[in-house]
Amino acid sequence: METLPADQILDGLSTAVLLVELDGSVHYVNGAAQILLAASAERVRGRRTDELLGIGAPLQAALAATGERRSTTLRELTLKQSIDGHALVVDCTVSPFGWVGDGELALVELVRVDQLSRFTLETRSQERHAVSTMLIDRLAHEIKNPLGGLRGAAQLLDRELPDRESREYTRIIMHEADRLSALVDRMTGPFTTREKTCFSLHAVLEHVRRLTLADVQEGLTFNRDYDPSIPEIMGDREQLIQAVLNIVRNGVQAMDGRGEIGLLTRIRRQFTLGNRRHRHVLEARISDNGPGIPADIRENVFFPMVSGRSGGAGLGLSIAQDIVSRHGGAIECVSQPGDTRFSLYLPVEEPS
Ligand SMILES: Nc1ncnc2c1ncn2[C@@H]1O[C@H](COP(=O)(O)OP(=O)(O)OP(=O)(O)O)[C@@H](O)[C@H]1O
Ligand SMILES: [Mg+2]
Repeated sequence: METLPADQILDGLSTAVLLVELDGSVHYVNGAAQILLAASAERVRGRRTDELLGIGAPLQAALAATGERRSTTLRELTLKQSIDGHALVVDCTVSPFGWVGDGELALVELVRVDQLSRFTLETRSQERHAVSTMLIDRLAHEIKNPLGGLRGAAQLLDRELPDRESREYTRIIMHEADRLSALVDRMTGPFTTREKTCFSLHAVLEHVRRLTLADVQEGLTFNRDYDPSIPEIMGDREQLIQAVLNIVRNGVQAMDGRGEIGLLTRIRRQFTLGNRRHRHVLEARISDNGPGIPADIRENVFFPMVSGRSGGAGLGLSIAQDIVSRHGGAIECVSQPGDTRFSLYLPVEEPS
C-alpha cells in the first residue's frame, strides 16, 4: 500500500493534534487543533506552547519525557484560550513522534472534556462513595437481623395455620422477606474475596457480549475495537464480568434493545488514577448510541439507589464501581444524547 504523508492523515483526524519540538515550539498544527485554538496554522507555527496554551510546566515535563520514549496523559488542563468566555478544558496526551530533519518531535493530542459533562471517580467522589458504602453496610446489618427473625416466625406460623387461605399470608411475608434479604445482599456487594487470577480483558468483554446477544437477538449490534497488544490483568474475572455486564445491560435497556454497543480497549501510559501515577493502565470503554443518562441523575448515577428506570433498583453502577475500585481502578462516564461512554480504567501490575 502507498504510504500517505503524515500531515494528510493528521489533518483528517477530529482530534486536535500538534507536533511540537522538545523545547516547546510548535512545528505543525492539524485542522482540528486550528479550530480548537481558533488560530490559523500560520499564526501558530513557530510559537511556543507555553504562551499558546498557557500550560507551561506540566507540558514541558511531558515533552521531556518523550525524549525517553515515554508518553504522558495530563488530565483536565485549563487552556489559556476560552470560547465565548468559557474555559477550555482538555485532556492532553504527549507521545514521542520521532525525528523530522534534525529536530525531535512530540505528538500532542488535545481532547476537550468540558463540552461533555464528565463524572470521574476522583478522590473526592471516592471519599463520598466510601461514606455511602459504610452507611449501607450498617443499614444492611440493622435490616438483616430482624428480617431473619421475621422470616423464621412466619415459617413457624405457616406450619401452625390450619387452612391454605391463611397460609397465603405467611407465604407473602416469607417471599417479601427473601426479596428484601436478596436486595440487601446485592447492595452490600458480591465481595467474597477470591483468588486473583491473570486473564485477558478481551475474554471478559467477549463473555459479556455473548451473554447479551443470547438475551437480545435482534436489533442490537456490537462494534468491537480491541487493541490486541494489551497485556493481561490480575484480578477477579467473575467480578469484572459482573461490572461490565451491569454497564452493558444499562445501555441495552436505555436503547430498548435496539442500537449499537461499542467495546473498545486501549493501553494508557503514565496515567493517574486517584493520586497514583501508573505506568500502564488498561482502558475498556463501553459505549452506546442510546438517549443518554437523564440529566437530573447524571451527577449521581454511581450512587446506590439512584435510578432513572421504572423498576430499576439503582444498584448496577454502584456495584460496578465497587468492583473496579477493588481492582485499584476507576470508572469514568461521559454522556449526552446519542453518545454515552463508560470507561473502566484498570492498572496493570508491573512485575517487580
Ligand atoms: N447507558 C445508559 N444510557 C442511559 N441511561 C443510563 C445508562 N446507564 C445508566 N443509565 C441510567 O442510570 C441509572 C442507574 O443505573 P444502575 O445500573 O445503577 O441502576 P438501574 O439500572 O436503574 O438498576 P439495576 O442495575 O440495579 O437493576 C439507570 O436507571 C439509568 O437511568
Ligand atoms: Mg442497571
